[in-house]
Amino acid sequence: MARTCILGTGIATGEHLVKNEQLAKMMDTSDEWIRERSGVEQRYYVETGTATSDLGVRAAKAALEDAGVTKDEIDYVVFATMTPDYYFPGCGGLLQHKLGLRTIPSLDIRQQCTGFLYGLQVSDALLQAGQARTLLLVGAEVHSGFMPWTSWDYLFGRGGEPPSAAERAWITRFRDRTVLFGDAGGALVLRLQEGDRGVLGFKLYSDGESFRDLYVPSVGFAQRPYVTPEDLGSGRHIPEMNGRSVFKMAVTRMPEAIRELCKEKGISVSEIDLLVAHQANLRINEAVQKALGLPDEKVFNNIQRYGNTTAATIPIALHEARKAGRVKPGTLVAFAGLGSGFHWGAALLRA
Ligand code: UT7
Repeated sequence: MARTCILGTGIATGEHLVKNEQLAKMMDTSDEWIRERSGVEQRYYVETGTATSDLGVRAAKAALEDAGVTKDEIDYVVFATMTPDYYFPGCGGLLQHKLGLRTIPSLDIRQQCTGFLYGLQVSDALLQAGQARTLLLVGAEVHSGFMPWTSWDYLFGRGGEPPSAAERAWITRFRDRTVLFGDAGGALVLRLQEGDRGVLGFKLYSDGESFRDLYVPSVGFAQRPYVTPEDLGSGRHIPEMNGRSVFKMAVTRMPEAIRELCKEKGISVSEIDLLVAHQANLRINEAVQKALGLPDEKVFNNIQRYGNTTAATIPIALHEARKAGRVKPGTLVAFAGLGSGFHWGAALLRA
């Protein structure tokens, strides 16, 4: 039997490393609060002009090199992002052009923090159906466009003016969300290979009922025009989040999905060698680990260094786990995620 296998992985980050202390120059927050509540210590933001497709291209180049695959061998692109360069078109076609790929099909996936898992499922289906032979799966985000400040130079420590008292109060209004996110991308090169190794299966879910617990209220066609000056003035272009509610959903739904998938596959949860979950909050992942009864050596987290990078978290964590020697041939890897929509689920991979 042929399964979807990972031939190579690659990552890219925004150009600027920003530590929690630097964010405290912009708003009422502290390194202590951010670390305690989320585990995040630092994140990367892009330089002006770098867009999501650019991070995708950089990660894809690294993944192709890692896989020893040429760009002409790629015959399908699946690009997961909730922060596309443009409202439309999506990033898949932009990456095709910027990377110099042949005029192959390319697809965008809009499942936010579960985008990578949905992208992996679609990629697996395309490969299994013979619609693609060597597929590039990318998850990338530039969240810094959501940030409510303009003094980027000051934040990056290269001059500029600190925010005024009024600006600081405005920025502080959004502090529960802004401190969590970073800009980065991850990419995988996928191909079917004969044998027992590869993607074993998925358990994915959606429930749109409580979508307002994490969404962007404006810049959408539920209103006319789809963006107004009032939206920008009142911050309706910045995600709104009921953090407590999302936290609760994440700590129940992710272990549930992993358990269900393991049951369906006749695998015991204790057989999982490595849990690579979406990196939204270290406290969420600690609770998921506890619920599943997994020891520390079976879990890989890196939110401390990147923050939440939405569709990029899982490919980045997988890449780092591979490079650290934590994913060897035969390692049973469980993925899990939950995000805006709400969408959530799990996947299993025999590396
Ligand atoms: O990928 C999916 C996306 N999102 C998530 O998964 C998010 C899930 N939720 C969370 O991660 C947490 O709910 C947060 C990290 C967002 C917030 O942590 P929390 O423990 O739920 O804090 P809270 O929102 O209940 O706020 C506690 C206090 C409040 O002050 P008062 O009312 O107690 O005086 C906030 O105003 O902390 C305050 N606060 C902050 N203080 C300093 C909120 N954000 C900050 C901040 N710095 N950045």
